[in-house]
Amino acid sequence: MSDPLRRLAPVIRVAPAKLNLTLAVLGRRSDGFHDLHSVMVPLVLADRVSLAAIPPGPDARESLHVEGLDPGPDVDNLALRAIAVARQAVGGGWPGGPGPAPALAVRLEKRIPVAAGLAGGSSDAAAALDGALEAWGAELDAASRLAVAARIGSDVPFFLAGGTALVEGRGERVTRLHGIRGQPGILLVTPGLPVPTPDVFAAFGARGGRGDGSVRMTSEHLAVELRNGLSAADLIARAGVLAAANDLLAAATIVVPQLVPFRRALFRLLGRPVGLSGSGPTLWALYPSQDEATEAASTVRAALDDGRIATIGTGRPAVHATTTVARQVGTMPGSEAEGTNR
Ligand code: C5P
Repeated sequence: MSDPLRRLAPVIRVAPAKLNLTLAVLGRRSDGFHDLHSVMVPLVLADRVSLAAIPPGPDARESLHVEGLDPGPDVDNLALRAIAVARQAVGGGWPGGPGPAPALAVRLEKRIPVAAGLAGGSSDAAAALDGALEAWGAELDAASRLAVAARIGSDVPFFLAGGTALVEGRGERVTRLHGIRGQPGILLVTPGLPVPTPDVFAAFGARGGRGDGSVRMTSEHLAVELRNGLSAADLIARAGVLAAANDLLAAATIVVPQLVPFRRALFRLLGRPVGLSGSGPTLWALYPSQDEATEAASTVRAALDDGRIATIGTGRPAVHATTTVARQVGTMPGSEAEGTNR
């Protein structure tokens, strides 16, 4: 038999950030999580994950090498957790089996701000899951991939879809939408105040644990529009409504009260609606093109430098101009065709 690990080149995956265009929280479930209705888009701002199988031996141990931003301790790393859960799911079902699939040397180029409401860790996990399977030459059907992804975290299944999607349930029900025609510019401003998602949901629960019905209506309406495809210009025309369509906004400002004046200052500076992605603290504004978002990013950086906008948190807020990932095909059951998020 040929050596299943003879693959020399590492497997490389791009792990995009996500933006919640809407986020409705429908209510608390018996398992402690919340049912959501959220329209999410993948962004060009991305991490990169590369994985290489290590030939078996006494020193063959999974390793993680990080470049760029600090993702936090290895024990909490979702890419490593994804590989461990994927190895369990594969069992002896890889070409070198029946033993467990081999250890991997993982390299992570971390560009997506951490604990920022952009799901960078979850995206790394989805990329690592897909990449590990390829590095091992192992197969998992789409339903099993989805089950593995959902075990790792609520935001992970979305990234298997490879495009704009409606996310429901705890995050495990993902429906691909046709998406946005054209690529709107997206300005992201992330203050240096990592916000733990559980804290925001806890604050949300303390306020009654139920979202505002109007956010749900906006989210349902946008999902219908994006099912058929919406132009970037039409999306931007809805920016004011979308910037208010996040049920976690008020809870996030309880956890991080400084977000209120910071968001107001950004709104005054940009003259555009400013929304919150997920549980925050990343704030976003939409533009007709990435060039215009890049210009706005310079404006924000200058305003932070000269004190027109007071910095909150530690260090300088991260300012990114990006756009949505161009339409592509995904691997979800019910998605339009086959493909991957590479
Ligand atoms: O699934 P994940 O580990 O990303 O979730 C982090 C936390 O966010 C959970 O522990 C829970 O407090 C909250 N959460 C929730 N409902 C969801 C997703 C997350 O309550 N649908």
